[in-house]
Amino acid sequence: MSQFWKPGGERPQLLDDGEGGVLFFSPSASSSSSSSGFGYGSIDKLRQRLPVYKYRTAILYLVETRATTIIVGETGSGKTTQIPQFLNEAGWADGGRVIACTQPRRLAVQAVASRVAEEMGVKLGEEVGYTIRFEDVTNTDKTVVKFLTDGVLLREMMDDPLLSKYSVIMVDEAHERSISTDILLGLLRKIQRRRPDLRLIISSATIEAKSMASFFRSSKRHQEAGATDLGPSKEPAILSVEGRGFNVEIHYVEEPVPDYVQAAVSTVLLIHDQEPAGDILVFLTGQDDIDAAVRLLTEEVQSHGKKSHGLIVLPLFSGLPRADQDLVFSPTPRGKRKVVISTNIAETSLTMEGVVYVVDSGFSKQRFYNPISDIENLVVAPISKASARQRAGRAGRVRPGKCYRLYTEEYFVKQMSSEGIPEIQRSKLVSCVIQLKALGIDNILGFKWPASPSSEAMIRALEVLYSLGVLDDDAKLTSPVGFQVAEIPLDPMISKMILASDQLGCAEEILTIAAALSIQSIWVSGRGMQKELDEAKLRFAAAEGDHVTFLNVYKGFLQSGKSSDWCRRNFVNAHAMKKVIEIRAQLKRIAQRLGIVLKSCESDMTVLRKAVTAGFFANACRLEAYGHNGMYKTVRGSQEVYIHPSSVLFRVNPKWVVYHSLVSTDRQYMQNVITIEPSWLPEAAPHFYQQRQLGPSIH
Ligand code: CDP
Ligand code: MG
Repeated sequence: MSQFWKPGGERPQLLDDGEGGVLFFSPSASSSSSSSGFGYGSIDKLRQRLPVYKYRTAILYLVETRATTIIVGETGSGKTTQIPQFLNEAGWADGGRVIACTQPRRLAVQAVASRVAEEMGVKLGEEVGYTIRFEDVTNTDKTVVKFLTDGVLLREMMDDPLLSKYSVIMVDEAHERSISTDILLGLLRKIQRRRPDLRLIISSATIEAKSMASFFRSSKRHQEAGATDLGPSKEPAILSVEGRGFNVEIHYVEEPVPDYVQAAVSTVLLIHDQEPAGDILVFLTGQDDIDAAVRLLTEEVQSHGKKSHGLIVLPLFSGLPRADQDLVFSPTPRGKRKVVISTNIAETSLTMEGVVYVVDSGFSKQRFYNPISDIENLVVAPISKASARQRAGRAGRVRPGKCYRLYTEEYFVKQMSSEGIPEIQRSKLVSCVIQLKALGIDNILGFKWPASPSSEAMIRALEVLYSLGVLDDDAKLTSPVGFQVAEIPLDPMISKMILASDQLGCAEEILTIAAALSIQSIWVSGRGMQKELDEAKLRFAAAEGDHVTFLNVYKGFLQSGKSSDWCRRNFVNAHAMKKVIEIRAQLKRIAQRLGIVLKSCESDMTVLRKAVTAGFFANACRLEAYGHNGMYKTVRGSQEVYIHPSSVLFRVNPKWVVYHSLVSTDRQYMQNVITIEPSWLPEAAPHFYQQRQLGPSIH
């Protein structure tokens, strides 16, 4: 592998840090003039201006000589879009091999892939492609640079455990420490020992580079054993790409703000009124509050207020239709000011040119899991100082900028935690355990993680998987159920529901439900028109609950000839319904491969509810207190929960239900709820529910 290392190319200077032999690279003037075969088109000029370009030779040198290279560089320095191209230009994709670059977020995968295709002047899906769950835009014969989510790469390991088609795997955005990134890092560390030809790049905006390096450093024993190898050095290299961010002035609020959406909107209007040109990036938490802020600002613009003249208001969150994403990245028209209201995705995964002002709410949506109650929630929670600094940094890309923090300085200094907690330590581990099992990692407790999950969470996961019939007494995957569940790229509870539907004769319906549950919501966002939305829902509402309601909407949509007009009239999100149809088609293919018979149960909703129970028995709840919106308790953990106002069963208060997920605001709310009979629980999961747990009110 030396085709890139052109004779006469200078050896970059490597510095020893003097502690444990980790090597740092110091940029030298000579390395910026490496030959690269670039032309002089404007794209090439732009590329050459990115900070990472100066390190091109160094990166290629390290990748050739080291098994693992850790690259730290500020957001926007060109890591994601340039490094895969450097590798391609250097020949790492010759001979039918592929360069992979993983991202934790689907939207980032799509955005960077299309950018790189554009830079390389090729059609997306040919030389440059991407794969996210349920969407594969690659060409087996042509694709040489492939962007994919870390979750998809994990899935690929099930068919190809050594990931043999990849020459280099770049695990990008490693600082986010998503659960899939951590699992992937743990597995790649193992693969490396079997594949000396494989190269890893771990890249991120900020990272504990040294602890990552020591994670990838082979144990002493292994190093000695491999001392006679002719392969690359096992010692990871660390390369730090110097940023070129401009200074960002930080402003804090004097008093805590009661409503960060409102405060963000007022701040945007204030900036627009008083500050010179430059786009504004606002960090909120999710689609709900982003939609609310967009609506408030749009109303302001439409009322032709002087304060909002010339503002272009755009949302940015995962699940946003492609056309809307493109608007975010397109240049701001002259005389206008763009306001992008985003989730965490704009913190490091995506760079927007032209942002000069950042408004930081101080919050993001985060997953939290309590292994004692076995409840996992998506919660709006305070961000860390590291995140706050990243967010502020987004304002200094083109010139000195300003960041408006919607929290007090005292709060930042005294209360904000310095780093976030890796997702694996705050998540349910059911999917993670089943994936490792499917990859033949039997000793899960002995698996080496970048950060270890808690043993309570691990035990909970093993217990649920055992109850689902996925693991046997020896904690091995059962055949065929365990292997089949692992094969379906969905939460194991949904997968189990699909398998149960085969036996119960309702796979047609359950596939539709599984597809609808995989997307955020099939309804249009309800703020400001709650009453109309509720009335529309009533047209489809089923007494059995939300799952059956999905079926009614799906039927109506098909009968209308997939009409967008029908969707508009019924407050159904047409984009979401198209997605449901696509996902369903994919699930159907998977089901057929698994030999599932696609049968319809027609109007027999009992079998359908039984199939849902077979997967979701662990989420069973019993009504404890009647009332306006009755209080339920989870059967297993006795946690207080309530039916979410978005459910068709809100205020109906059936006695026994299972839910699909929980959201937590002032209370724990169950989303997507369906009625069940309590006697189905011990039938579905005898180990999980002994009869006595169900108590006296069972009949
Ligand atoms: O990965 P990193 O944050 O280091 O940078 P990058 O994503 O590779 O971005 C490098 C440059 O490409 C930035 O100037 C971005 O603004 C630009 N870019 C773009 O214009 N459109 C995209 N979809 C992605 C990147
Ligand atoms: Mg990046």
